[in-house]
Formats: sequence, C-alpha cells, structure tokens
Amino acid sequence: MAFYSRVSGSVGMITLQNPPVNALSAPVRQGIVDTIHRALSEPEVKSVVICGQNGTFCGGADIKEFGANMSGPPLVPMIHLIEAAAKPVVAAIEGIALGGGLELALGCHYRVANSKARLGLPEVTLGLLPGAGGTQRLPRLIGVPAALELITTGRHVTAAEALQLGIIDEVTDHNAVDAAVKLAQSVAGKPLDARRISTYPCPRPPDSDVVFEKVMQEVRRHARGAIAPGTCVQAVRAAVALPYAKGMEREKELFATLFTSGQARALQYYFFAQRAIGRWSTPSGARWDTSKPRPVRKAAVIGLGTMGRGITVSLAQAGLSVVAVETQEKQLLAAKQAVTGMLERGAKRRGAPLVLDQIKYGRSVQAAADVDLVIEAVFEDMALKRSIFQQLSRLCKPGTLLCTNTSGLDIDELASQTQSPELVVGMHFFAPAHVMKLLEVVHGPRSSPEALATAMQLGKKMGKVSVAVGNCRCFVGNRMLRPYVMQAYFLLEEGATPEQVDQVLEEFGFPMGVFKMSDLSGLDVAWRMRKAEGLVLPASAGESARIREGSRYSPLGDLICEQGRFGQKTGRGWYQYDKPGGRVAKPDPWLHGFLEEYRTRHGLAARRIDHQEVLERCLYALINEGFQILQDGIAAGPEDIDVIYVLGYGWPRHRGGPMFFAGQVGLDKVLERLEHYHQVHPDVPALKPCSLLRRLAASGSPPISRWREILQKPRSQL
Ligand code: 3HC
Ligand code: NAI
Repeated sequence: MAFYSRVSGSVGMITLQNPPVNALSAPVRQGIVDTIHRALSEPEVKSVVICGQNGTFCGGADIKEFGANMSGPPLVPMIHLIEAAAKPVVAAIEGIALGGGLELALGCHYRVANSKARLGLPEVTLGLLPGAGGTQRLPRLIGVPAALELITTGRHVTAAEALQLGIIDEVTDHNAVDAAVKLAQSVAGKPLDARRISTYPCPRPPDSDVVFEKVMQEVRRHARGAIAPGTCVQAVRAAVALPYAKGMEREKELFATLFTSGQARALQYYFFAQRAIGRWSTPSGARWDTSKPRPVRKAAVIGLGTMGRGITVSLAQAGLSVVAVETQEKQLLAAKQAVTGMLERGAKRRGAPLVLDQIKYGRSVQAAADVDLVIEAVFEDMALKRSIFQQLSRLCKPGTLLCTNTSGLDIDELASQTQSPELVVGMHFFAPAHVMKLLEVVHGPRSSPEALATAMQLGKKMGKVSVAVGNCRCFVGNRMLRPYVMQAYFLLEEGATPEQVDQVLEEFGFPMGVFKMSDLSGLDVAWRMRKAEGLVLPASAGESARIREGSRYSPLGDLICEQGRFGQKTGRGWYQYDKPGGRVAKPDPWLHGFLEEYRTRHGLAARRIDHQEVLERCLYALINEGFQILQDGIAAGPEDIDVIYVLGYGWPRHRGGPMFFAGQVGLDKVLERLEHYHQVHPDVPALKPCSLLRRLAASGSPPISRWREILQKPRSQL
C-alpha cells in the first residue's frame, strides 16, 4: 500500500509500503493512485514527495504478480497521472530505484537521491524491457547511447553516476526525503511544462540507423540467443522514430511479446531459484539453515595452484586473514606473484583497499595451527589428501573446520582421517575461484549442521552463491557433466566432429561447446580423475576399452591426452591453437584424421548426425543424471541443480537451468526421446530414463514448483 501524510502543512508525502523492496504490487499501485488524487485535491498542498519506507525507494514491479492474473491499476496510466499533475512531484530515492521504481521516478518532475542509492532498469535480466515508459523517457532525458547501454545491460548506477548522466537532479549525503521536501517547497507553484519528460523531443543521434545497427549487432553477440536485449534496442529505436504516444504503444507491444515468451518465465524462475536455495535443508535433512555458523576470522589455504590462488584472493577480499601454504618453492613464488596481481587488479576495479598484508605465506602445513578454518586445494589425489587431513587433524586447534576443494572425491573418507569428522565438509569452488560465483558445499554423512552452516556463511561472505549438496562421486555439477561429455564423445565415434557438436551447443546458448570448454579447462584434469578411478585402459585392451561389462565407454578423451594434447595449454586438444596458451580454436585436420582412423579400427561407420540428435543426446543425458541426483537425495531440489548449472557451467540463464528446461520441453517428451535413444544404444546406461523422471511424467508432468513436495515423499516411493 501507500501511506499518505502531510509535512509542514504544504507538502503531501506518499510513502510506499511493501517490504522488503516496496515492489509495485496491486495494493501499492492502488495506494499511489488514491494518495495522488488526495494530494492534488487538497488546496493547502502545494507540492508532493514520493518516497519508500525503511530507506528503500522501490525495487520495481512485483515480480511475484507476473505469474498470476494482474489486477489493480496499471503502471503506465498511474505514472502518467503523476507526470500530468499540476503540482510538482519529487521522488526521494533512498536505497534503490530499479525497474518500475525508476520509471515511477522518471514520471515525477524532480528526483533527489541519497549518495548510497543505486538506480537502474534491470528488466532485461528478467527477460523483459522497461514497460512503464522507461524505454521512451530515459532516452529523452539522457540521450540515446547512454539509455541504450543502461537498458540493454540492466546495469545499476550509483547516485553520483546518475547525477552525471542527468537521471537525477540532486544527490545528498543526508536523508533524501528531507532534501526532497526542501526541494518540493522551493519549486511549489513554479511552471512544470519543462519538467515533463514525455514532452521532450527524443534527441536523434547523427547516423542513428548506423548507431542502432551497431548496438544491435553488439547486443546479439553477447545475448547468445536471449531475445530481450535486442527487443530493448527496438523499443528505444521507437523513441527516436515515433512521437511519444506511438512510442509507448510500441513499448507495450514489445513488452507483451517478451512477457509471454518462455525466456521471461525462465529468467524469473531463475531469479527466485537463486534466492531460495540457501533456505532449504539438505536432502538428508541436516538443518544447517537453523544452525548458528561459527565465526571465521582466520583461514588457511593448502596448495597454491590454480584453485588455491583464487581461493586465497577471495578470502582476503572478504576481509579474512589468510595463511597460504605451498610446499614447492617455485610454485610458492609464482603463487605470491599471481595473488598479488589479482588483488591489485581487483582493488583497482572495485575501488577497494589493497589487502596484501592480510596474507601470510608459508611452506609448511604447520602454519595452519591457529586458524579457524582450512581449505585444502592440493592435487586431486586421495592418498595425498588423506595424509594432509591426518596432519591437519593433529596440528590444528580444536574446533577448526577442515574443508576440501576436491572436485569429486569422497568427503567421508577424508573425514575418517580426522579426530572430528563432524568438522569436515567440502567447499567446491570453480575456476577461476576469485571470479566464479558458484560454491558447492558438500556435506558428508557425518558433517555437523554447524560446520555446514559455517561453510555456507563463509561462501556468502566471499560473494559466492553457496549450494548445499550431498556427498557422492563428483557431487552435482561434475557428476552431471560426465554423461554429457561422454555423449559428445560417442557422437564423434558415430561421425560428428568437435566443431559440429560445439556449434549446436553454442546455438543453444552455451558460451562454449563441450570440446572448446574442455580445451580451455585442460583435458588432463579429467583424464587424471578417470585414471585414478581405473577407467583408463591401455591401448592393448582393444575392443574391451570400449565396452565395459556391457556398458559403452569412449576412450577418445584418454587417447588424445596420451598424445600430449591437453587443450589450450599445450596448443593442441580437440582443436588446434596458434601456440601453447593460444585462445582461438581452429579445426584440426590431424584430429579429423585421427577420428577416421579410430572409427576404421573399431569398425564404426560414420553417419550424418543432425542437430536435434546432438542436442538431445547431450542435454537429455545430463538432465537424466539430474533426475537421478534428485532421486538419490544429493540435491535438495531442481532449483539447486539449475543454479549450479547456470553459475558454474555456462548453462544459458534464459533457459532457466537444465531441470527447468526439461519441464519446459515437457517431461513426457524428454522421457520419450530418452527411451528412443536408449533403445538405439542399449549399452549406454546414461540414456536409460531414471525412475523419478518416469514417475513425474506419469503423474502428468507437474510444474517444477511442485517437484520439491513430491521429493519429500519417502525415497522408496520415487
Ligand atoms: N518483486 C517482488 N519481489 C522482489 C522484487 C521485485 N521486484 N525484488 C526483490 N524481491 C524480493 C526477493 O525475492 C526477496 O524475497 P525473499 O526475501 O522472499 O526471498 C526479497 O525481495 C529481497 O531480495 P534480495 O534477496 O534479492 O535482496 P538484495 O538486497 O540482495 O537485493 C534487489 C535487492 C537489488 C532489489 C534485488 O532483489 C533485485 O535485483 N530485485 C529485482 C529488481 C528488478 O529487477 N526490478 C524490475 C522488476 S520488472 C519491472 O519493474 C517491470 C516494469 O518495467 C514494468
Ligand atoms: P594444481 O595442480 O594447479 O595445484 C595443486 C598445488 O598443490 C600445487 O601447487 C602443488 O605443489 C600443491 N601441493 C601438493 N602437495 C602439497 C602439500 N602437501 N602441501 C601444500 N601444497 C601442496 O591443482 P588445482 O587445479 O588447483 O586443483 C586443486 C584441487 O582443486 C584439486 O582437488 C582439484 O580437483 C580441485 N579443483 C580443481 C578445479 C580446476 O578447474 N582446476 C576446479 C575445482 C576443483
């Protein structure tokens, strides 16, 4: 709702009340309309201030209403009512003015913001465009290029930048409401014609066609199949090409197209998924979310390779004291240099203080004796990790949390090396660890809720999105990756090329196809893991290298590693690069010849494989594993898996995540295609539909919001 009061007799004050962000729900819109009418009808009131309660102006339209039938007064006429008012209306912006919130402020005649406020039109991130006049008013106010940039990226700006751009009239370090009241009093009775943005001509940039074409190309390049950014450009183009009223009609039409698109639904689902995952208990029922996390002030990182360096940076940036341990002298020196460089660049980019002094380097694990928490990041080698956990358990002070960054080893086996297995959890970061937002927090059967809560909380402090997952080989993300990668190998065996597979996946929206991604991360990492699991057989194994106890296995990844082709780092992998460390992937005739020779050797006839098959086999194998993970209780719900895939594996956000995507395709359709492929390839268990998928499809494919409830039922019934 909106609350009405009077200040100093002559200023009508409208306060939006809808915690936590004063979203413009139907009662709030109704409240604004009612209170504006009241303020305009009271003769003593000479001007009006609109503000939000609790230091927050407005977070925009109420996204929760989007799924339901909309009721209450619509936003656009409400904003027109404000703009047309005969008394000056001033927006007092504290906290945030986002989306419809900023559009509301743009309908006011003046805008005052507190210096800590953030403003923006983030609708594009929800698959929409600013649909309450934002695409028509903002370019009229600040010019086309600046408006295009803000609307197509959804970027938030600070109050200082907003002032510089001309979005607001005044910034104050003090209370924005007091400043707005002062301004409202000073402009009472003054003419308003020059303050109504909708009446401004829209400045037409010279060569406007060229400008729009360039932006459209740029936007398409970054959008990877997302339709909202390009539609935002079209709406701003209408502001230049059409008079205001016609431009508003165009904005409405374009908004409606986006609103009903599957992409907007996917992005809005994802918005709530990311916010909800931290709240649920783990599938095993460990109520970490109600446990009190322990304070962590000092942490140690053991092993300063690729991951340890990024983790050290992230911990230091979060304000912790860090003890960074590396046994190899040369690695230690290189790590110091790399960490310093990352911190310097980070401080510059964020305008934050440099925190080099918070890190102490050492060559012995002994240096970790007095820390509150340790993150081990040595080679993926169980024997080595076991011995480190034994040492840590002996030397660390009682109560120290012992965490491992393993990509998939058994957390419980590591816990059993220690005197306090309840204090052992996995903290699985993603490379580069100081950049990637995802953290899988892995709870072993003996991890205590308190230890879990502490790791989750630390992740949050480090700016990560922490997802609690259960303990199994490769946890959630990497476990689902395996069948996906294996399908891609099978497709090569059957006649595809890495280029073809990658192209299909990139058209779907991944920033990189599976082969380019493997080349980038280094093929040797997964190869070592497969070796450790005994999956890699010698060349002499012949046909039995391909069929293991009735199940098909493709040794292609192992064979190219044996050639020393580890991807970008060696200049050769599934593609060729101009030099070791090169980044531009080019098709490699050697690889094509190698594949032909491999097929001949194994009597495999190459066939033409269409796009649909490439996409379905790769994605549905991954999704099937996702259902198995839910069935096994390793992830608490489909949202957890979706957040992991969007944040950690480049799954296109506008497709919601693999589990949401499966729901959108239709579970019965996914099931039918998996059954089909499994019939053709009965020796590939990953294509055999999992029983949870069958059950959900049989019960009429309930919406994803209901899966969690179904999963609460005893596992034996799934
Ligand atoms: N509608 C409904 N609920 C919203 C909301 C919105 N616009 N914005 C935030 N919320 C809810 C969140 O779901 C969360 O609810 P919960 O506590 O039940 O989980 C709560 O508010 C707090 O949100 P956060 O956890 O995200 O809090 P933060 O402080 O980290 O962030 C924020 C606050 C920056 C406002 C962030 O929530 C955000 O980015 N919100 C979305 C803003 C947005 O995109 N607005 C545009 C909406 S579309 C629109 O306006 C269309 C118009 O052009 C017609
Ligand atoms: P890396 O090979 O780059 O670094 C490992 C470092 O540990 C080396 O510098 C090595 O000298 C050091 N080390 C070995 N024994 C040590 C000891 N006893 N004490 C101190 N330091 C020791 O390995 P990377 O890639 O950083 O991986 C580390 C861990 O993180 C592994 O468990 C890996 O599976 C996991 N991981 C790796 C990811 C990646 O993309 N590289 C992603 C996520 C997890």
